[in-house]
Formats: sequence, structure tokens, C-alpha cells
Amino acid sequence: MKHKIIIDTDPGIDDAMAIHMAFADERIDVVGLTSIFGNVTTDRSTRNALRLAEMAHYPTIIAPGEATPLIRKPEPPADFVHGAEGFGRVPAASPLGTADRRSAAQFLCESCAAAPGEITICAVGPLTNLAVALSLDPQIVHNVKTIVIMGGSFAYHGNVTNYAEANIWNDPDAADRVFAADWDVTMVGLDVTERTQCTPDDFAFLSSRSPHIGGFLNEASNFYFDFHQSKTGIRSCFMHDPSAILAITDAHLFGFEMVSMAVVCQGEEIGRTRLYKEQDRRPVKVAMSVDNLAAREKFLGLVANADSIVEKRKAG
Ligand code: BDR
Ligand code: CA
Repeated sequence: MKHKIIIDTDPGIDDAMAIHMAFADERIDVVGLTSIFGNVTTDRSTRNALRLAEMAHYPTIIAPGEATPLIRKPEPPADFVHGAEGFGRVPAASPLGTADRRSAAQFLCESCAAAPGEITICAVGPLTNLAVALSLDPQIVHNVKTIVIMGGSFAYHGNVTNYAEANIWNDPDAADRVFAADWDVTMVGLDVTERTQCTPDDFAFLSSRSPHIGGFLNEASNFYFDFHQSKTGIRSCFMHDPSAILAITDAHLFGFEMVSMAVVCQGEEIGRTRLYKEQDRRPVKVAMSVDNLAAREKFLGLVANADSIVEKRKAG
């Protein structure tokens, strides 16, 4: 049985890495992509999601998400990490197709209701669409198979502030509602995503093996390497969003702890994910360790093969 996944995303360079890896993985059926603000505005995120699907000739639904957080004032997009258009210095291009008429939240609710217990939602951006889906159809907690998020940190620092990771920080109220709901949640946070890293040589390898998809990621990742190098002094990048997909397909690569989680929604520590000490929240499966070399190998192996999978899809 394939993993049926909807990826809730703000593409975004590492989002593009995750999505192309998922498109190239024959163990996965990407049922749809839902867009959200974060790395870029929601409009650009929808456009970029359409473009990624078209680039890979992957037939999937793209549903446009919320434009602003639930409560907090919107923060500017992270253009210093992902570039103004989302894919580094790769120029913007208009996709041929159009987005679904349904909102992301409607699409999430309807898809899960139509296939109860089958769909995993992998959220690799701020969690606003998931929070809106919870209000729209509370039954989604029973209809979804599981939620896997890239976001937060537990025994670790933040990446936007000392406390907060970007996806949670962009909409802390939404994230807190996601942790409070009675559904199965896995959190793949900075505790593990910063441990798996790739280098420019890795992307040059992908470009040589799969010039179309790997070549695009190689070009886009240059800007991402600039950002990481300015932060860490090393030209290697963190594999945030691909780690969340790997936690679905290759969960054995990770070590998890069961912890109830809450999010700080105000003040200096806004966006911090923290231990929730009361008994009325279902524990979250928090990824605390990763076989980072194996995770990197898995990513490289799948994306190296991406062009041949595209050709196979085109041939029908
Ligand atoms: C997360 O924030 C975004 O910049 C990345 O795409 C990733 O989802 C990392 O903190
Ligand atoms: Ca992302």
C-alpha cells in the first residue's frame, strides 16, 4: 500500500526538495499540495506548488491556503532564506494550470472524509490551514490517518528567535490548536532536521544524475547555501522539510519520544514549542534522534532517480 499524502507547504527551497523527493518516491501517492504563507506569500506559494507539480508531470491537486495567521500579525516572507520568489535566484515562471476551487482547509477535510484513515497530512509550513480545517470539520481528527509536521524544537534552540522555529513562529495559535486536537501528531523539529545536511557537491551530483529535477534543485539551492553559510560559516544546508517526508516513509531512521506539547502564543518566547504538563492533551510523537547519514543517502538516492520517474510517468 502506498502512503497517501497531502503536503501542506510554503515552497520554498527545502519544500521543493521535499516535494520532488516525494514525487520521485514510488512508495508515495501525493494526493494534493495545499499552500500556505511563510517562505513566500500564499499566492506565490500556490504558484510555486503548481510549478513543482508541472515540472515533475505529477498529476495532483493544488488547493490554495490561508493568506494570514489566525491571530498574530503576519510577518514578512523569509525572502532572505528562499529568495523573493521562493526558489532562490531561479526566476519566477507562470504555471500552465490553475489551483483547485476549494480552499486548502476544505480540500483537507473533504479528502480525509472521502478516504477515512488513509491520508497522512504532512505540514511543512505554518499550521494555519490545519487549524482552519479543525474548525471547518472537527471530524477530520477521526478521518485523517496521521499528521506529520516539520516544525518546532524540543531540547533545542529556535531558528527565528532563540526560542522559536519558523513554521511555528509564523502562526503559534494555529500550532497550539494542532497540538491540542485529538489526532495522531508527529513533530519533526529542529532537534533532527538540522542534523541532516547536504552540500553543494550533493546537489551537483543530483544535477548530473537528473538534470531536469536535480538541476533545478541545484540551481535553487545556491541561495539556500548562501544563507546557511552566513549563519554557520559552513556551506551545507539543513534538510528540514525532506526530513518530515522521510519520517513517514522511513520512520525507522528516527527515534521518537511521546510528549504532550503546547506553544507559547505571546511575549518574548512566542512560537516556542514546550512541554504541556496537564493531562488533557494527547501526547505527540517528537523526533529526537535521526540516522542522519542514512536520511541524506535516502534523499540523494530518490532525487537522483527523479528524471527517470518523470519519464516513466510521461510514458503513462
Ligand atoms: C522551516 O521554515 C521554512 O523556512 C522551511 O521551509 C522549513 O519548513 C524550517 O524552520
Ligand atoms: Ca517549508
